[in-house]
Amino acid sequence: MADWRVKSLDSILATAEKKSLTRSLGAFQLTMLGIGGIIGTGIFVLTSEAAQLAGPAMLLSFVIAATVCGLAALCYAELASMVPVSGSAYTYSYATFGELMAWIVGWALVLEYAVAASAVAVGWSGYAVGVIQEFLGYELPFALTNGPYAGGLINLPAVIISIAVTALLVVGTKESATVNAVLVVIKVAALTAFVVLALPAYNAENFVPFMPLGSTSAITAASIIFFAYVGFDAVSTAAEETKDPQRNIPIGLIGSLVICTVFYLAVGVGVIGSYGAQPVGIIDGTAPYPGTPELVAACNADTVASVVCSNEALAHVLRSIGHPGVGNLLGLAAGFALPSVILMMMFAQTRVFFVMSRDGLLPRALSKVHPKFKTPHIVTMITGAAVTIGAAFFPVGQLASISNGGTLCAFFFVALAILVLRRTQPDRKRSFRTPAVWVIAPAAIVGCLVLFAFLSWTAIVFFFAWAAIGIVFYFAYGRSRSNVALGIDGVSELDPDIPPQGVPPLPGIHTPGGKDA
Ligand code: ALA
Repeated sequence: MADWRVKSLDSILATAEKKSLTRSLGAFQLTMLGIGGIIGTGIFVLTSEAAQLAGPAMLLSFVIAATVCGLAALCYAELASMVPVSGSAYTYSYATFGELMAWIVGWALVLEYAVAASAVAVGWSGYAVGVIQEFLGYELPFALTNGPYAGGLINLPAVIISIAVTALLVVGTKESATVNAVLVVIKVAALTAFVVLALPAYNAENFVPFMPLGSTSAITAASIIFFAYVGFDAVSTAAEETKDPQRNIPIGLIGSLVICTVFYLAVGVGVIGSYGAQPVGIIDGTAPYPGTPELVAACNADTVASVVCSNEALAHVLRSIGHPGVGNLLGLAAGFALPSVILMMMFAQTRVFFVMSRDGLLPRALSKVHPKFKTPHIVTMITGAAVTIGAAFFPVGQLASISNGGTLCAFFFVALAILVLRRTQPDRKRSFRTPAVWVIAPAAIVGCLVLFAFLSWTAIVFFFAWAAIGIVFYFAYGRSRSNVALGIDGVSELDPDIPPQGVPPLPGIHTPGGKDA
């Protein structure tokens, strides 16, 4: 059946071989790349939202989300070591399930990357507002720092950072490996300082009640805090620039995830133990959803110390437990470091669009390269406009949930893909084989489905509406124009502006010896 047309793995690998990016990344750099992508708004901001949804039980949420990500990472690792090419879940799906599924996964990756960029921009805004207030003594008006969801007008700082990052991407700014490493050190130092100062202020009473909103609340919060772990899959997209990818990609994926999980649990214990993380405004066993005017009202009325009312959770906790100076520095660190996560997410988005347009599923004109800057300026500006609108008007938790819907969809198909490929291509070389694959991959699939089911209604409805639009677009456009439909192998002959593999390297992995795609 035409809609199940697949690209053969051999042709994908052959296309990749034509490309001559220098393979310069080792396990350490990949781990740094992973940590650079992972630590961001999730831990710095969404901790508040998780607390409002689950109270101290958010610690379980960190474990649940980490477990699902760990299972998915093990599946990613096998695929990445087997098909070390750009395009991530989209490419794997093309080879395994065919064009329609690949299109749906690529379409879902827009949610993962572009909407995530909006979420991180809103998270950054919370810290920027705090830093301006603490260092300059100027309180920005509520209406200009919050969208309509919280009773404001527009989140202006989030708009400004989104436009600034778009502009940097248009002129071709890439985060160098050195800048990435410095930012990782800053983020890790900020989290370490938090843990070191918060743990001594530990008070076991803050853990009671542990589950004020019931046992399933931990899964609800996990479906949001999952966002804090997203980013490790970016490591797999660096496969073409990696030395010995078969060994180093799995180490980078799993290493970065394990390190971040340890930090997140320590930070979670620190937040709850030192300050408190009880939900506010509980009536009849339910609490106002994060990012709503009801929560703002409950925060104004409540006198209990809880992290849930802060837009800059970790800085707020440190200031409140007697470390205002370090709290402000932590705010500054977040202000410096979070924009690189926005950059990375938006860059990943343009990369996915690039590959999809190279395959003919999106208009090839989208990937036109700017004559002077040599960047895909059209697709970058379209992405930037969408990210800016999301950041201007929507709450961070809702954006994170919507993004998580897309990510869970991608993880689901990756886990399914390795099972299918074990059956259909049993002899292909896999230097990393997922251990106990018939347990791990099904567990990853179930984990993704469970977390998806616990997303907010808005996120679930948005996901299916987005998928429906994507399917209509595929049948109206891509189905008849894709390279596979036209019998073309590669697009360089169609449009000289699009490089053979069609994608530049990820930020953070642009090494001096590397050659631009
Ligand atoms: N994991 C990234 C963050 O938390 C997306 O910002």
